[in-house]
Amino acid sequence: MEGITDAPYRRTILELYPEWDAVSTDFLRIPSQGSFSDKKILQHWGQYCQSNSDWAAKTTFQILAPVHAQVEQTVAQIQNCGIHSLDLNLGCPSRKVNSHGGGAFLLSTIPELKVLTALIRKNFKGTFSVKMRAGFRDDKNLLECLKVLQEEGVEAITLHGRTRDQLYKGVANWDYIKQAGDFLTVPLIGNGDVWSTSDISNMYHQTDCHSIMIARGALKTPWLAGQYRRGLKESLFERTINLIKYFDKLEENYRIDDFDEVGILKRFKALSRYLFDPFPNSHHLKSAFLRSRSLVQFRQLLDQLAKNPTNPHSEIPFSLLQKIQNPQNNTEYCHS
Ligand SMILES: Cc1cc2nc3c(=O)[nH]c(=O)nc-3n(C[C@H](O)[C@H](O)[C@H](O)COP(=O)(O)O)c2cc1C
Repeated sequence: MEGITDAPYRRTILELYPEWDAVSTDFLRIPSQGSFSDKKILQHWGQYCQSNSDWAAKTTFQILAPVHAQVEQTVAQIQNCGIHSLDLNLGCPSRKVNSHGGGAFLLSTIPELKVLTALIRKNFKGTFSVKMRAGFRDDKNLLECLKVLQEEGVEAITLHGRTRDQLYKGVANWDYIKQAGDFLTVPLIGNGDVWSTSDISNMYHQTDCHSIMIARGALKTPWLAGQYRRGLKESLFERTINLIKYFDKLEENYRIDDFDEVGILKRFKALSRYLFDPFPNSHHLKSAFLRSRSLVQFRQLLDQLAKNPTNPHSEIPFSLLQKIQNPQNNTEYCHS
């Protein structure tokens, strides 16, 4: 996920929650001119991949490219860097990316899709997969796209059950995943609105997909794969303990990658978007974390939450709650 799944985050997931079978980088946009250094490619993959072959084996490298980009040489370079699993982004809905012919736009231009995937396949000997939506403007090309991708040697397809024009509206349509799975011979990985262990069971049941890719649901519950595999439910108290362990490991890994306190706090906040959803008054609770002025303050809030997870506001300082209720009045809290 762009802006989220950086190397320290992925390393944290791999270390703490080995029940996930795979993680992916966010996309690296292949340049139209010039080239990347090997250092840039290896950094995007993550330093941790060079020190631990098990983690390297679980880390897919995602690229985003229009057909006219420097695909041939960059893909060959990625392979020479020792990366064994490459994923092409065919789902990005960004207007800018699409206007340059990349991401989900390629689902509307089958000849370009064919040329691009053939080029990647020819230059990459490792596992080649794609991550796509059900279409660009609409779903009319879905089966044709799947056919072309499979014919050009794509070995696994992740399908997000929305078209590009649907962005993130409504709920993902899992019928697309069922339809694609019935059509394909390569493994189909279902994606879209899987937030809980019961969503995982339901998606397997309703679509017969080979596996499931979880994005926002994994941000909400980073240990979801373990919960699913062990059939566990968690109380709010257990969740706070899990959150403390998670933030401890994140901090350790961001420090390994030379992040300073301010940088780590920013990452903590970026990763907090869904984490507090299961708690009462989650909106206010999340705001309190997002307003932390330091790592120490962020951790104090976590400790207070652990003391009373079912009524978190009883433990959060009055000054902070006042601030949440009156966002105009910033100064008093900053100095309290
Ligand atoms: C903040 C954010 C960043 C994303 N970045 C990427 C990306 O770099 N590559 C990609 O294939 N999909 C990306 N996605 C899409 C997700 O992989 C996924 O397809 C989508 O969120 C639906 O799945 P979910 O309901 O499990 O979140 C991103 C989604 C979000 C919310």
